[in-house]
Amino acid sequence: MSKQESPANGLEPIEKASRDELQAVQLQRMKWSLRHAYDNVPHYRKKYDAAGVHPDDLKTLADLAKFPFTTKADLRDTYPFGMFATPMRDVVRIHASSGTTGKPTVVGYTKNDIAMWAQLMARSMRAAGASADDMILNSYGYGLFTGGLGAHYGGEALGATVIPMSGGQTEKQIQLIQDFKPTVICCTPSYVLTIADEMIKQGINPRETSLRVGLFGAEPWTNEMRREIEERLNIDAIDIYGLSEVMGPGVACECTETKDGPTIWEDHFYPEIINPETGEVLPDGEIGELVFTSLSKEALPILRYRTRDLTRLLPGTARPMRRMEKITGRSDDMLIIRGVNVFPTQIEEILLKNPSLCAQYQLQVSRDGHLDKLDVYVEVRADLSDRTSEEQRREIGAEVEHRIKVLVGVSSTVHVVETDKVERTLVGKAKRVIDRRPK
Ligand code: DLL
Repeated sequence: MSKQESPANGLEPIEKASRDELQAVQLQRMKWSLRHAYDNVPHYRKKYDAAGVHPDDLKTLADLAKFPFTTKADLRDTYPFGMFATPMRDVVRIHASSGTTGKPTVVGYTKNDIAMWAQLMARSMRAAGASADDMILNSYGYGLFTGGLGAHYGGEALGATVIPMSGGQTEKQIQLIQDFKPTVICCTPSYVLTIADEMIKQGINPRETSLRVGLFGAEPWTNEMRREIEERLNIDAIDIYGLSEVMGPGVACECTETKDGPTIWEDHFYPEIINPETGEVLPDGEIGELVFTSLSKEALPILRYRTRDLTRLLPGTARPMRRMEKITGRSDDMLIIRGVNVFPTQIEEILLKNPSLCAQYQLQVSRDGHLDKLDVYVEVRADLSDRTSEEQRREIGAEVEHRIKVLVGVSSTVHVVETDKVERTLVGKAKRVIDRRPK
């Protein structure tokens, strides 16, 4: 088969299915998934027996609300392989996400799981506007992190040419962009800006490379940051979402024609939004915690998994499947500063409204006597850095402090600094917050 004829180039029939058809598939698969978990994972069976529910109680999609949630603690309590539903003989790959505390969360895949993941990543890349004609620079980290291999297998399934670069080594990334002329880049949104900064240092215009599209995810980013990336690199910046426990990247991805929040691949993952305090299921359109139930995974069926990500479900636009709004943050990223709830993305939005600033920023929280203190460090845009005086930087800082006070409700000190003065994360997720307050 020639690259052009690859079936991944057209929409899959399920991507065009009506809501009714989709829901019929979801119900049938959900019954299978609950039964598979109950029959093969003692931990699920024990939990469901204790809660007095059984897979046979699921007659409609809404019945899912009767079943208990799964959290990271369930995976930790059964570390490393206790949640696997298939014998290790059928597991062909393991990934793990490094927890900030304690043991990593371990996930496993059968051959079919890997094929499904590759298919959904290829679907995501196609939604982003990529095809077999593209060359993909894959700068997500390879290894236990799901980003690298997830995007790699997806790109190959699409029929594209994949450069398995991995994260870091920014100068090498730029050399490959210049010499191989890839058209698509996959990396975190913060890292692509680091690449752009380094290009400017080398005298390369980031707007004039071969790159056309970027699939950015693994960390929260705002629409303001999308504008900055698109402006600086002259590419389409697409939001791709996923998490290891549910699969990895490609649980949901934006469509290039609308760029209005990731479309959830609902034929394999059933989403719910709940009130994080009460666990009550909220109607579409209301903001809460995103919960996923896998519908087809074999090695690690995951039922009503609480992601801690905050968003809301929106009706389909480019596809009949529902969308999720761009993630505002994780419930565990929320800072409480002098009693006010603050998400790093709220600050990001304000910083990027100022045309002189860029998305290299970090929040530092400390305690001054009895009071919380917020220091915001943010860089001037790399192309303005040499031309901005200390006086001008102070003025910008004062203006941003004022906006943060008015819009978020906290006092802060904003330090506007030169390029490279904010610590960069070259591999993995950007570290946006340093909280030095005593616990
Ligand atoms: O970050 C998988 C991934 C890799 C997604 C590459 C996209 C691209 P984990 O390391 O398990 O998996 O982290 C999952 O990262 O619960 C979110 O909090 C956050 N996250 C992932 N994608 C996005 C996104 C990968 N597009 C956790 N926007 C999730 C906001 C995201 N947050």
